[in-house]
Amino acid sequence: MACARLSADALIEQFEREKSRALGNAGRREAGLYYTPRSIADAVVEIALRHSRVRPKSVLDPCAGAGAFLLAAARADLGGLTGTDLDPQALRVATRALKLCGARATMTVADALRWTPPAAPDLILSNPPYGHVGGSAERAELLRQFPALGGGEIDRYAAFLLRALELVRPGGAVALLIPDTWMFLARAGALRQAVLSQAEVAAIVDLGKPFASAKDTRVHAVVLERKPAPPRLAYVGRGSVARALPTMAPGGEDAPRGAGVIGRDRPDRRAQRSSQPGCSCGHSGTFDRARD
Ligand SMILES: C[S@@+](CC[C@H](N)C(=O)[O-])C[C@H]1O[C@@H](n2cnc3c(N)ncnc32)[C@H](O)[C@@H]1O
Repeated sequence: MACARLSADALIEQFEREKSRALGNAGRREAGLYYTPRSIADAVVEIALRHSRVRPKSVLDPCAGAGAFLLAAARADLGGLTGTDLDPQALRVATRALKLCGARATMTVADALRWTPPAAPDLILSNPPYGHVGGSAERAELLRQFPALGGGEIDRYAAFLLRALELVRPGGAVALLIPDTWMFLARAGALRQAVLSQAEVAAIVDLGKPFASAKDTRVHAVVLERKPAPPRLAYVGRGSVARALPTMAPGGEDAPRGAGVIGRDRPDRRAQRSSQPGCSCGHSGTFDRARD
């Protein structure tokens, strides 16, 4: 999508400059007000689209700020754009910048760690806030919500990394611009485990130190694909009597020989023994194997 490049970029830069001046250095750090340069946002979107298998119809930036990533998504011809941020002024700027590019997004002022979108997006793009979490009440709350953040200092971006994996749809992708510390710090072992138990790494690309006002911060584009949902549990029965479901492994030993699953007339003894009126069975697990 072509857009009035200078106007949209200039609008965001001007807002960042004015807001940073108003907040001062400490306030700016606290608010995480470091917007992503256009070339870096474009690079993250390009990396996400090239290396994930997702063809997104819906895109969320949960920490949208003034819209750098939503604009990059619009330039890549992605639609179904939504953004959230704590800062209503920033979201207004994002809406105006998108309009200059002929694009639009649904914006919601919200705390992305607590807010849940009406429908899980296919792709989450973001540059979340960085820095250590200082306050003890906030630390306790984050540890309650994400036990994998335990082990020492909490890096704020790590909470958004875990939250993004909760929010994206199973099989969807998360592409974040984040520091590299989660990959190697000893205290981030539980975090790594939590990430890798939920997602596959599609790409990690070192993008250097692109922030003029945070010159020492090295960042990576990290693209994760959330693992698909486990097979849906199915109820199989006749009336109130539950029946065994033959394992659905294609071509496997237990593959069903007859076409009828529900029509088989051998009731599952374990299910009969139980007083349950029915049961749920997956494609694997003890219930399947209980056939005799
Ligand atoms: C580093 S800036 C990045 C903004 C934008 N994604 C970009 O790349 O230019 C981080 C943004 O996160 C927002 N933010 C901080 N905590 C948040 C939260 N709990 N929920 C939603 N947004 C939050 C800040 O207001 C800020 O706009």
